[in-house]
Amino acid sequence: MTQMQEQEIADETARAVDAASRGCPEYRANPHPLYQHLRENAPVCRITPPHGVHSYLITRFEDAKAALADPRISKDMYAAIDAYRSIFGDSSIALDDNMLFADPPKHTRLRRIVSRAFVPRRIEALRPRIQEITDTLLDNCSTLQPVDLLSAFAFPLPLQVICELIGVPEEERPEVQQWCSVVARTGFSKKDKDRLAEAENTLREYFEVLIARKRKAPEDDLLSVLIQTSDEQESLTDGELLSTLWVLLFAGHKTTAYLIGNAVYTLLTHPEQLRQVIDSPDLLPNAIEEIIRFEGSVENATFRHALEDITIAGTLIPKGSLVQIAVTSANRDPAAFEDPDTFDIARPGVQSKHLSFGTGPHFCLGAPLARMEMQIALASLFRRFPELSLALPADEAKWLTVPFPAFRGLTELPVVLDPSR
Ligand code: HEM
Repeated sequence: MTQMQEQEIADETARAVDAASRGCPEYRANPHPLYQHLRENAPVCRITPPHGVHSYLITRFEDAKAALADPRISKDMYAAIDAYRSIFGDSSIALDDNMLFADPPKHTRLRRIVSRAFVPRRIEALRPRIQEITDTLLDNCSTLQPVDLLSAFAFPLPLQVICELIGVPEEERPEVQQWCSVVARTGFSKKDKDRLAEAENTLREYFEVLIARKRKAPEDDLLSVLIQTSDEQESLTDGELLSTLWVLLFAGHKTTAYLIGNAVYTLLTHPEQLRQVIDSPDLLPNAIEEIIRFEGSVENATFRHALEDITIAGTLIPKGSLVQIAVTSANRDPAAFEDPDTFDIARPGVQSKHLSFGTGPHFCLGAPLARMEMQIALASLFRRFPELSLALPADEAKWLTVPFPAFRGLTELPVVLDPSR
């Protein structure tokens, strides 16, 4: 390649990244052409989103998979505190004293303690409650035409499920939901950050009271088990306990909520494959894995930072730099998936390959719960409303506009549940 051609590609990359960083709507509606360009031309690309802190974005499958498990790329955000604080503010830092933002040996200890409470028996025992919660939400939706499926179903379902798991009493959930929705939807302006801090403080105070109550009167829920474990064996500090509740609430809530929205949208825009799933429900588990690959709800894994100078795909990531791993891009890499931009519910081997739940030591702890929720949610929705349709043209759907965000999801999903009414 000549120097001039190289310069042209570099300019094109800079233009595309800049447009994406400004959150231009075409990019948000469909970020995949940009990721394709980056995989082909700048697989490790230095980006500067509007929060002003630059990071290195990794877009190819093999690089992403290796980086997710690379001990030289740290998840201990306390160590990168200045860069991280300037993006997320102070109160988030305190709430990040949990496994998601820790390296071994702390990560190993925190994950071990939570895994002891997060056993398959406890998850499986939630199945009838998830079905009940789903049915009630669908009952409530059924009188609304059209209905925003995100706010009426996709968000409340995982929130209620995670509250059920943790042990938040039913009557206190609406308030928790209200504060969570503030945290879920904030941006990076000063006003957004203030609202975020207020919501975080309120939730933190609520959890402190809940912990004290469960300590006095334990029940059969995950929080009571975590408290008992902390008191008896290997322990979580009070800060770690609080922060663990926080990570479970958010890791288990927004991810699944946006994924339900993405799933319904993807199936409605591929009606022949939706029909196959409705006619043969045993196709659903693989269809869900393909949805998670094709239009997953995690666009970029959580921030990391380089503990030393690291060279990936010929690009030097200097020690101390923030690193982002574009899971969405990795899942569409033709080097890993044949015909990656085609949605195919029968795609073989997709479950064991996509990176939507991460990989390595931080592999999603809640993946079995998320899969169960998705299956119950989608099976119940389409069984009850087999003629469900979008209430707006598919290309007018509104996607989150934050550039290079953690989440890929819709801001609303207006649907007609039953066109015959
Ligand atoms: C970690 C995705 C649902 C709990 C992760 C990671 C990803 C992910 C990508 C790794 C992050 C990284 O390495 O930077 C998802 C998706 C979900 C989902 C796409 C839904 C479809 C859940 C649920 C829970 C949960 C329902 C719990 C109730 C966690 C926890 C971690 C985690 C605790 C941290 C694990 C660790 O650091 O060792 N998740 N998640 N997730 N997830 Fe999930």
